Amino acid sequence: MARCTLCLAAASCACAAAGGVSELGSLLRGKMILAPLTRGGNQPFRRLCASLGAEAAVSEMIFARALLRGEAVERARLRRAPNEALFGVQIATNDVEEGVAAAALAAASGAQWVDLNCGCPIHEAARRGLGAALLRRPERLAELVGGIASRSPLPLTVKVRLAADGGEVNVREVARLLREAGAAGVTVHGRTAADRYSRAADWDIIQRVVEDGEAVGGGMAVIGNGDIANHAQAKLRMDTARVDAVMVGRGALTKPWLFGEFRDGAAWGPDARERVEIYRRLTCYMKEYFGDDERGRRKAWNFLPWHFDFFCRYRPELDDETALTSLQTRYAQGSLSLPPVDRLLTYSGTDVHELIAAALWEASSDQEAFDKLSAVAEGPQLAELILAGKQAESSASGEQDELANIPSSEVGPGQGAQRTRRKRRRAPAVQRTDEEIAELRAARAEKRRLLGTPAHVDGFRK
Ligand SMILES: Cc1cc2nc3c(=O)[nH]c(=O)nc-3n(C[C@H](O)[C@H](O)[C@H](O)COP(=O)(O)O)c2cc1C
Repeated sequence: MARCTLCLAAASCACAAAGGVSELGSLLRGKMILAPLTRGGNQPFRRLCASLGAEAAVSEMIFARALLRGEAVERARLRRAPNEALFGVQIATNDVEEGVAAAALAAASGAQWVDLNCGCPIHEAARRGLGAALLRRPERLAELVGGIASRSPLPLTVKVRLAADGGEVNVREVARLLREAGAAGVTVHGRTAADRYSRAADWDIIQRVVEDGEAVGGGMAVIGNGDIANHAQAKLRMDTARVDAVMVGRGALTKPWLFGEFRDGAAWGPDARERVEIYRRLTCYMKEYFGDDERGRRKAWNFLPWHFDFFCRYRPELDDETALTSLQTRYAQGSLSLPPVDRLLTYSGTDVHELIAAALWEASSDQEAFDKLSAVAEGPQLAELILAGKQAESSASGEQDELANIPSSEVGPGQGAQRTRRKRRRAPAVQRTDEEIAELRAARAEKRRLLGTPAHVDGFRK
């Protein structure tokens, strides 16, 4: 029997009867959508979010050309998780034929819509005229969208920023043209491409885009995106900016249970045991996806430790009902006032995250995982890493990691190393309060005591 591509029910469903571009809008209305997240939005992580209440998600960005060449990495990104209710596939292209062909592959893999990336600010995308570069020429963009939308088997949404890198804010004009071109929805990330994460998302402009649509009778869903860290902020944005839906990126990477909080309208604040259970669930999904053997473990290692660079940012105070806390904020790590596993989960640094990931991978129950992590928290390996300062080097730094989505064959010679160097130079200095500095000193003194190390070795200025 023919099935509706939106709700997967019989083709005689209400969606089919209503027809038109607003179909997808009505399915997404009132929902919190998991953003497209290169590397972070891998299939096991989206499955975790769905298990914690996410009702809709978008895949990692897929380069349409590489997908159509049959590259395995890009094809894998089409795979929908078994528990995902609504799944969109994000593509990067500036070519109608490519877009239509990629949309057909997305439909065949069970996606309900296709999203065109017009927000990626990285050089590798920009120099190919992809991502946010498409915002420079709104009329050309509208032709592209119109061409794909008219022949795609799936509804098309477009994810934009307020402006291209170095360009004027033109999102209202872009949204108008997208509506006229037949886009089913637009997701507005309230920053320009040049902003990266340097300032707060501008929700006033997102609201203007909604109002512009209302003035002409709607027809295209508007999804608001930027800086949502808790359920109260999501609700506030929905009520004040009147967007059809909200999209969350870093908030979900930090606390994937955000979706359940949004559904229930209440903060949860899981304790360390509950969080370990969630992180082990992700590990189990990775074992299922990549394989529960050495090969699978090697593949999972590209993702599992990486996730802890966001998980370690979790602090219960982000649940404050009114605070628009910056998702880029880093906190003091390793506070001695925390119990061992809670403390362990606050550390950043790839080496520490690999220790955590190994404990989770090797545990065969939640209790065993908790016991193993307790042992790590109080063991000599962690103390040595901290002493060597290895808890401070981050593995993930937000959108820089969109680069991870570019197949290695497309990265020019030497660029990887240059990027790493740039990244290191740019790492922001951690701003600490006097209280945090005092705590750090106490932590170091405790470490020295544990390791029997003389005071001058750790190089910490007194
Ligand atoms: C690690 C990471 C990867 C991202 N990858 C993509 C991507 O592939 N496609 C895209 O359109 N945006 C990507 N973004 C941007 C997010 O989708 C989102 O627009 C942005 O983070 C703002 O939302 P937030 O404040 O809720 O994080 C990425 C962001 C992060 C942090």
